[in-house]
Amino acid sequence: MASPADTSKTNKLERYNSYLRRLSSAKLLSASSKLLFRATLLATIFLILLLILHYPLPLSIHSPSSFSSPHRSLLTSFPPSFSPSLSRQIRLSATPRRSSGLSVLVTGAAGFIGTHCSLSLKKRGDGVVGLDNFNSYYDPSLKRARQALLARHSILILEADLNDSLLLSHLFSSYPFSHVLHLAAQAGVRYAAKNPHSYISSNVAALVSLFESAAKSADPQPAIVWASSSSVYGLNKKSPFSESDPTDNPASLYAATKKAGEAIAHTYNHIYGLSLTALRFFTVYGPMGRPDMAYFFFTKSILAGKPITIFRTADGKDVARDFTYIDDVVKGCLGALDTAEKSTGSPGGGPKSGPAQLRTYNLGNTSPVPVTKLVSILEGLLGVKAKKNVVTMPTNGDVPFTHANVSLAAGDFGYHPTTDLAAGLRKFVRWYVHYYGIKLKPSSGQAVAAQRL
Ligand SMILES: NC(=O)c1ccc[n+]([C@@H]2O[C@H](COP(=O)([O-])OP(=O)(O)OC[C@H]3O[C@@H](n4cnc5c(N)ncnc54)[C@H](O)[C@@H]3O)[C@@H](O)[C@H]2O)c1
Repeated sequence: MASPADTSKTNKLERYNSYLRRLSSAKLLSASSKLLFRATLLATIFLILLLILHYPLPLSIHSPSSFSSPHRSLLTSFPPSFSPSLSRQIRLSATPRRSSGLSVLVTGAAGFIGTHCSLSLKKRGDGVVGLDNFNSYYDPSLKRARQALLARHSILILEADLNDSLLLSHLFSSYPFSHVLHLAAQAGVRYAAKNPHSYISSNVAALVSLFESAAKSADPQPAIVWASSSSVYGLNKKSPFSESDPTDNPASLYAATKKAGEAIAHTYNHIYGLSLTALRFFTVYGPMGRPDMAYFFFTKSILAGKPITIFRTADGKDVARDFTYIDDVVKGCLGALDTAEKSTGSPGGGPKSGPAQLRTYNLGNTSPVPVTKLVSILEGLLGVKAKKNVVTMPTNGDVPFTHANVSLAAGDFGYHPTTDLAAGLRKFVRWYVHYYGIKLKPSSGQAVAAQRL
C-alpha cells in the first residue's frame, strides 16, 4: 500500500514537471518569435535593397524640381553615373582639337543661336557638348534637323532639361568644361499669355540650377557667357540703348525673367566667384532661324498667299527693330567666350580667391529698320506681293523700337556687325526655300541671286 506521504511527493513532482514543461515551451515560443522577428527584419532589408537597385533614386533627389522634366534621366540610377559609352561620347565631343582650345557646354544647342555657335566653335577646334530639352514651343523637327547637322560635325547634344540638377552636377563633376555658353531659354514675348510658367521654369529656375551646379560641382568652375535680351530695356525712350541705361520697366514676362536672370547672375558672381557675361541680343535672324519670329512667319504667309499683320504704334509710327544677322551674333558670342576670365570660386562652392568678372554687352546691328521695310525686302526676294493688314500694336509685351549701342563690345572684343538686313534676309530666304523644298518664280530677287552663284 502506498503511504499518503508518497502521494503528495508524486503530486509535487508532477507540478514541478509541468512547471518545467511550461518554462521550456515559453522559452521555445520566445526563441521562435525572436527568429521570426529577425527573419522579417532581414526580408525587409532585402526588399529595400531590391527597390533601391531596381528603381531610380528617391524623387526628391532625382527629379529636377517642381517643374519636373518629361525626360528620362541620362544617369543610371545607383550610383548616379553615365554609361561608359555615353561618358566616352561626352569626352570625345568636349575635348578641343587645338592647343589651348576651349571646352564648352552649350545649352540650347538645338536652338537657333545655339546651333550656329556650336558649329563655329567646333570648326575652329574647340570642344563642344550641347544640352537641350527639345521642347515643342516651335516645330521640334527643326531642332532635330539642327541636331543632325551638329552630329555630322561630331557634336553631341544631351537630351535633358536644365532643371535636372542631379544630371547637371554629375556632368560638371565628370568633365572639366572651361566655359559654358548658356542659350537655353523660353524665348518669345507673346507665348507668356498661354504658358507663363515655362518662362519661370526655363529662364529663372533653370538658370539657378545651372549656376548652382557650376559653382558647386565643377572643378574648376567654368566661365559662363549667357543670353540676356534687348527686351530688358523695356519701354525706355532713350536711343540707342546702352548697357548703363535703366532696365526697370520690362514690358513682358519674358523681359522680366531676363532682367531677373541678370540680378541672379550678380548674386552668383558675388557669392561664388563665377565669371559671368550677359549678352543682350537684338532680334537675331538668319538661316535655320526661329519659326515664331516675324521674318520667318511672314515668309511662310507671303508664299502661301495669306495676309500678314503689321503693327504700327498708337501714334501712327512704324515699329522698328535692330535686326542682327546670326553670323555677327556668333562672332560676338565667341568674342565674349575668348575674353572671359576664369571664375575665382573654389570647388564645392567654397570661398572665392577674389572678385570675378561680371560683364554685360549689347549685341545688336546698330541700325534699326522699320518692319514695313523688312516686308518689302521679303516681297522682292520671294517675288510675291504681301497681303498686308496694318493694325495698332497691342500692349501685350512688344516694344515699339530697339536700337543697340555696341561700343562696349566693340572695344572689349572687336564686335563689329557687318551684315545689313537685305543681305541677311537673302541668305535666310535661300535657306528657307531649300529646307522646305519651295521653287520660287524665276523673276524673284532670290531666284535671280541664285542664278548668279
Ligand atoms: N533670337 C533672338 O532674336 C533673341 C533675342 C534676344 C535674346 N535671345 C535669347 O537667346 C537665346 C537663344 O535664343 P534662340 O533664338 O536660339 O532660341 P531657341 O528657342 O531657338 O533656342 C533655345 C533652346 O533652348 C531649349 N530649352 C528651353 N528651355 C530649356 C530647358 N529648361 N532645358 C534645356 N533646354 C531648354 C529649347 O528647346 C531651344 O532649343 C535665348 O536665351 C533667348 O532668350 C534670342
